[in-house]
Amino acid sequence: MRQNHHEFPEGFLWGGAIAANQAEGAYLADGKGLDISNGFPHGIKHDYDRELSPEKFYPTHEAIDFYHRYKEDLAMMAEMNFNVFRTSINWSRIFPNGDDAEPNEAGLRYYDDLFDEMLKLGMQPLVTLSHYETPVHLVKEYGSWRNRKLIDFFVNYAITVFERYKNKVKYWLTFNEINNMRRMPGGAGGIFIEEGEDLQQLIYQTSHHMFVANALTVKAFHEIIPDGQIGAMLSLSNVYPHTCRPEDVFETMELRRRSLMFGDVMIRGAYPSYANRIWEEEGAAVIFEEGDEALIAAHTVDFLAFSYYRTSTHEYGQPFYGDTGGDQGTPNPYLETTPWGWQIDPIGLRYTLNELYDRYQIPLFVVENGLGQIDELDENGFINDTYRIDYVREHVKSIKEALRDGVEVMGYTYWGPIDIISAGTGEMKKRYGFIYVDRDNDGNGTMERRKKASFDWYANLIKHNGNNI
Ligand code: BG6
Repeated sequence: MRQNHHEFPEGFLWGGAIAANQAEGAYLADGKGLDISNGFPHGIKHDYDRELSPEKFYPTHEAIDFYHRYKEDLAMMAEMNFNVFRTSINWSRIFPNGDDAEPNEAGLRYYDDLFDEMLKLGMQPLVTLSHYETPVHLVKEYGSWRNRKLIDFFVNYAITVFERYKNKVKYWLTFNEINNMRRMPGGAGGIFIEEGEDLQQLIYQTSHHMFVANALTVKAFHEIIPDGQIGAMLSLSNVYPHTCRPEDVFETMELRRRSLMFGDVMIRGAYPSYANRIWEEEGAAVIFEEGDEALIAAHTVDFLAFSYYRTSTHEYGQPFYGDTGGDQGTPNPYLETTPWGWQIDPIGLRYTLNELYDRYQIPLFVVENGLGQIDELDENGFINDTYRIDYVREHVKSIKEALRDGVEVMGYTYWGPIDIISAGTGEMKKRYGFIYVDRDNDGNGTMERRKKASFDWYANLIKHNGNNI
């Protein structure tokens, strides 16, 4: 029988995670096309501008200028002893319109340099193919994932980057938080509802197209990079029943299943039996083409990556609502809450790791976990973010407990090790970083980087492979 780990195993992957669109800026540099993130003035929770307005400020256009400053930033990550760094390739740097016949060489070269730099510094790149970055042209011209042509465009893009980076990148993720197609289809898949459309039908049909694309991508990946691993990525912050009332308990399971269903398809290779009932009750009739089910069954992912930020509770009859942090219902009186209403629950991470491992029995990777807070500089310009240290310490302890429970965990990439643009709200004020960036919500500031107290603490945690807590 396999022994459970009492400590973090050797080779555990420690580091941080960002997304191209929230960090790079340079939104039209070197032939890049527009991607959907460029049209959200206040993040994906809020309005999307189909046409950019010259009067408005769009935070992703410059973001934190990681595009030009990545060497300096990665050097700081190396100082924190990272052995893995997660980012995305912005699809629109490689195929500016999404349907171009040839890839954009300047975009490919940028990521060559970026991955070379990571490798030089001892970090494995962990790369997301699509992190809320659908090319705008695909949305305007094809209706995004409504159209099955997107499957070919996406797979062509994936094959292009697999071929190009096969000797540099061994860990890949397909769609960031694909289950956010249910909560925020605009950000997750460039799906903006048109008059006369049924939202549920739209969500499940477009998700189905993404599942087919996922299967074809996994197939190509295993052929091109046989020594690598590719994962599904879901938003899996958890939700508890608000009370022990059986109606609360059962409906909470139904809510959770609406997320897990995405994992079921990509990990088990088939829609779960309860999917039919969901579609029936939501009035959705998902069209499958011949061969779709066989493809999905044949090409499943190697691991499950997920984000975990918080938990919430659900009461019977409450509308299903969520944001970038996960499902959100009634506040839990036992938990502390951030200024953004996110409730801090480290035990919930252990609960979630066990839940997922019980269900799937494949390696898990915590690729997002972090604390978005308001950071204040003291009179010396220092940020003593003990609250962030507490957050990480308690969550890492929970992972250690899950290892003892027998869960296989590959790694931990803290979300936003450097302050970046919030995906949900477009703010800079919601800071996650161990590294402070001098920039505010309106784009003022010098972009100077500075270490917060958590910087040395996290460096020390990794130095001891997490076994000093
Ligand atoms: C996840 C996303 O939903 O949560 C990230 O994958 C995002 O892109 C993160 O930044 C935190 O959410 P927010 O809204 O605080 O940036």
